[in-house]
This record gives sequence, structure tokens and C-alpha cells, in this order.
Amino acid sequence: MSLHVNPVLQKASLAVWRTWRSWKLSLHTSTVHASFGPGHWERSEEHSSISTDKPPHTPVMLKEVLHYLNVQPGQVVLDMTFGGGGHTKAIMNMVPEVTVLALDRDPTAISLAQQLDKEHSGRVKPILGRFSEVEALLSNMNVQPGSIDAVLLDAGCSSMQMDQPERGFSLSKDGPLDMRMDGERYLDMPCAADVVNTLDQQALASILTAYGEERHARKIASAIVEARRVNPITRTQQLASIVAGALPAAVAYARKDRLHRPAHVATKTFQALRILVNDELNELHKGLLAAQVALRSGGRLCVITFHSLEDRLVKRFLRGDEMSNLDHYHFSPRKQGPRRAKLEEEGDGGMVHWLPLSKKVIAPEKDSIKDNPRGRSAKLRVALRK
Ligand SMILES: C[S@@+](CC[C@H](N)C(=O)[O-])C[C@H]1O[C@@H](n2cnc3c(N)ncnc32)[C@H](O)[C@@H]1O
Repeated sequence: MSLHVNPVLQKASLAVWRTWRSWKLSLHTSTVHASFGPGHWERSEEHSSISTDKPPHTPVMLKEVLHYLNVQPGQVVLDMTFGGGGHTKAIMNMVPEVTVLALDRDPTAISLAQQLDKEHSGRVKPILGRFSEVEALLSNMNVQPGSIDAVLLDAGCSSMQMDQPERGFSLSKDGPLDMRMDGERYLDMPCAADVVNTLDQQALASILTAYGEERHARKIASAIVEARRVNPITRTQQLASIVAGALPAAVAYARKDRLHRPAHVATKTFQALRILVNDELNELHKGLLAAQVALRSGGRLCVITFHSLEDRLVKRFLRGDEMSNLDHYHFSPRKQGPRRAKLEEEGDGGMVHWLPLSKKVIAPEKDSIKDNPRGRSAKLRVALRK
């Protein structure tokens, strides 16, 4: 997709966000969650089953992250996406005299951080919350702005979340259509089933286009609306079959991932719903802003993303593009580039807060993809806080 403004996407995205906001508002005024829309359905009560036999998540681009974070004894690191703790564990093993503030919005990840804290005599400080809450959470802990030495943000979902069918992210295993990274923390937060059973066809198509970059969004949205007239859509496999049924077999067979391996035809639909349910792009922007406030001058930031929407946001943030009107972040680099250059010429260096540590975006090495195929689409951007 082009880096320049796509007016259709911009319009669709705005429409989605208006619908979403008014929907959220109406949700906040209702007392019971998930009892609205065309059909009433119960949320599933399936429970989590993390296996303790294998590591819950294999960290992506570990060697590169350790290199660029360059953590030294006595430093304080903020891991904004603790997940299965893979990156944090590696940091602690390399430099035991470090303190890691371990954030995650998923209570399951925080339980693992608490366990790790015990193993490292209080050097891991678990923090349950979202990127958008980081500034307040750090302030409550008396962590001063500009005092952190290194920040890691490894966006998206962990394997722990993806592999547990009951979390509703999985395309291959059946489970309730949930996808909330926060688990049951916010009972009024809509889950993926709420989205597919409630939003109108146009809004659904806009979501699939904007967040899934799905070319067949309209066909899929129409099939979803047809299917839910008969029965509410409550299961991951149910949605996956509806999407598969909406597209000609030739399209389904032609779908490939970035390594040109066959991909499920509903992958983009699932991605779009996940981004919407968890407000991932706004959260990412708020996370980057929080890192900017938290890091000391000379502190290091590593950001790993897994799809182009996220990577574009990070790239533009680091180069200081105007992002205040993030409804969404569709703005023209053509306009912003010269404007920023002009401001820099005029001496307003405050616009750009980052020095890139690598000229180009960093991709995983081929060998590491073989060992950890989930990391195949990862992109790492690294920068120094000015
Ligand atoms: C890719 S995993 C991180 C894996 C981790 N680096 C490891 O090595 O195990 C991403 C994690 O970030 C968390 N996350 C995603 N968005 C978040 C947000 N807005 N606020 C806080 N945590 C978030 C998810 O719950 C998930 O556990």
C-alpha cells in the first residue's frame, strides 16, 4: 500500500471510528454488556489453560533487541509488552543488576511477571495496564518522567493469547469469538462477537478494509450480516467458515502469507477485528508518546511491529510527523516532510525527539524465521531519545 494518503481509507476509517465511538458511548450507558444488537447471546465462560511445559512465547528478534537496547548494570528498563516475558528474561540473564518495569494489559502476563519477580529478588516490577495508562501508572510508582534508560515495545499479541482457543484469537482452534487482550478486566468492553453481531454492513466493511487491508471487505461484511440473521456469530470457527464461504474458492486458494505459504482466507478479517476490539493503533500511538516522556535523554527505544499499519505509524512518529489528529493517522508525508524541515531550519528542534539508531527498518534473519515463523512479518525500529 502507498505511503501517501488514501482518501478512501481515510473516509472509511473516520466512519468506523464515529460508529465505534457512538457505539461505545451507548454501551457505557447500558448496564449489562453484550445484550444489545440484533440478537442476544451469552459470552462464553471457557477458561484459560496455559501449558507450563513449553515457553509461553518465543521472543522475536531477541539478538537485535539486546544489541540496540544496550542495557547496562544499574539501569531501569521499561518493557511495555511483557507477554510471556521472553525479552525481559533475556535482559535479566544478560545484565542481572537491572530493574525491569514489566507492563502488560493482560492479567495472565502479569501473573508470569510476578513469578519472574520472585526469581529475580524484586527486580521485575509487574504493572497491569495499557499503553494509554502508562504515564499515570509510572507516576503512581514515583517513577519520574525522563528517568528510564531503555524502552521495549513489542506490539500485537503473544503466542499465549493466540494459542489459547478460549481467548478467541485463533483461526485454527475453535473458541468463543472474544479477542480482548485485557481478558475479563473490563466487562463493558466489546468483544469481537459484539462487533460482528452489532455493527452495520457498511461499518463492518470499513473495518475490514481499514484494519485488515481486505480487498473483499464488502463481500465478507455482507456474508456476516446474512449469517447473523439466522444465528448470532459467537465462535471463531463459525466466523472463519462464513468468511471462507463468502469468497470464491480461487481466492481462498490464492491467499499467501509473506513467506508465500498458504494463508487462511479469514486471516485479514481476524486481524481487523483484533485491532478494532483492542483499539491497537491508538494504543500504539499513546505507547510511543509515553515512551517519549519516560525516557531520559540518550535513552533507547526498540519497537517491534507485525503489520504495515503499525510500522507506518511508528516510522512517522519517530521522524516527528504531526500526529495530533489521530482519527486515524492518515496524513500526508508530502505535506509533513517539508513542514518539519522548515521548522527545523527555523530552529524549532523540539518537533523531532528521536535519532534513528539504524538507517533502515530491521527485519528478522532468515534462520530465526525458520525457528519462529510467527516472527516472519516483524519489523524493528530503533531510536535514541534526544
Ligand atoms: C508480542 S507480545 C510480547 C511478547 C514479549 N515480548 C515476550 O518476549 O514474551 C505483546 C504483548 O503486549 C501486550 N499488549 C498489547 N497491546 C498492549 C497495550 N496497549 N497495553 C499493554 N499491553 C499491551 C499483549 O497483551 C501481549 O502480551
